[in-house]
Amino acid sequence: MKYNNILITGGAGFIGSNMAVSFKRKYPKLKVYALDNLKRRGAELNLPRLKENDVNFIHGDIRNPEDLVLDFDVDLMIECSAEPSVLAGFDNPSYIINTNLTGTVNCLELCRKHKADIIFLSTSRVYPYQAINKIKTIETSTRFEWLIKGINENFTTQGPKTLYGATKLSSELLLQEYIANYGIKGVINRCGVIGGPWQFGKIDQGIFTYWMLAHYFKKPLKYIGFGARGKQVRDLLHVDDLFTLIDIEASQLSGINGNIYNVGGGKEVSLSLYEATKLCQEITGNKIKISSDLETRKGDISIYLSDNSKVAQELRWKPKRSVKSVLSGIFTWIRNNEMELRKI
Ligand SMILES: NC(=O)c1ccc[n+]([C@@H]2O[C@H](COP(=O)([O-])OP(=O)(O)OC[C@H]3O[C@@H](n4cnc5c(N)ncnc54)[C@H](O)[C@@H]3O)[C@@H](O)[C@H]2O)c1
Repeated sequence: MKYNNILITGGAGFIGSNMAVSFKRKYPKLKVYALDNLKRRGAELNLPRLKENDVNFIHGDIRNPEDLVLDFDVDLMIECSAEPSVLAGFDNPSYIINTNLTGTVNCLELCRKHKADIIFLSTSRVYPYQAINKIKTIETSTRFEWLIKGINENFTTQGPKTLYGATKLSSELLLQEYIANYGIKGVINRCGVIGGPWQFGKIDQGIFTYWMLAHYFKKPLKYIGFGARGKQVRDLLHVDDLFTLIDIEASQLSGINGNIYNVGGGKEVSLSLYEATKLCQEITGNKIKISSDLETRKGDISIYLSDNSKVAQELRWKPKRSVKSVLSGIFTWIRNNEMELRKI
């Protein structure tokens, strides 16, 4: 590990906290700082875990440049702070633009001043929903399917993509300018759905954890849109598989500077909501009421599968964990933290 001080923004969130803990466990001498404004309900539950693992927590907000004036040198930033909900911008664009766009600029400024490298967590949602929904789809008894492998980095980015996707794509463009103009090194990961423990899943983000939580705590669920039979599909990448990739990227950033990678479970590690229901029933032993809402939500997509070919070829990385092992791990985490999770 060539870095000494890593700053993880959104470091109390799902991905940020898992990255912080995994980096610290793998490289005990590394100083890891996790900055977060604790906006995400549940993020506060990660604070004792960060402390136990010797990660330094900074209560700060990336919207405020003052909060990014630090009394130590940062040599690598992993940018994981965001309003990560696709639905967030529909009612009011203010928070999502101020965090996902202006906040990123503040993070880039920090990198410029510290001459720090950056690994940026972007999203598959930079690809426009109308173009995705136009891909030829067939229907099986449990899911929708594409005849193509998945979406690769050459897929169009033209067209509406929700404010979440638009702010992320804008941030990617600015990051590329910072790389070209100020000599910082960086890489962009356009992630599909990521899952695993310490994700405080809610209806609009962290869907498979939300699904498992509902089964565990016996709460009702709804299949929404696309015929309302739960046939919509996402790929699902375990957060530990993501760590393996980010660790590789950190070790060879000079060689991959400026690259963009689509990163996800791909077709092999994907599931429909209907299939998620069956697995959650099998793992928890619980069967809950699932109703149907026929109205497809604005900006929603029936399938997303990442085509990981580029990252697999260039970095010799591929997801290792299956859908069932991701869901079983989430179940174990819920069972071990039942009291805390019940409160939120
Ligand atoms: N989880 C996924 O499936 C997924 C998929 C694609 C991309 N991503 C991206 O990965 C990153 C991390 O997502 P996550 O799943 O860990 O989400 P998360 O909500 O668990 O974590 C984000 C963290 O950022 C913090 N935050 C929000 N606004 C902030 C601000 N203004 N200043 C400082 N902290 C702030 C939140 O409190 C939260 O702890 C995001 O950029 C997200 O867009 C996630």
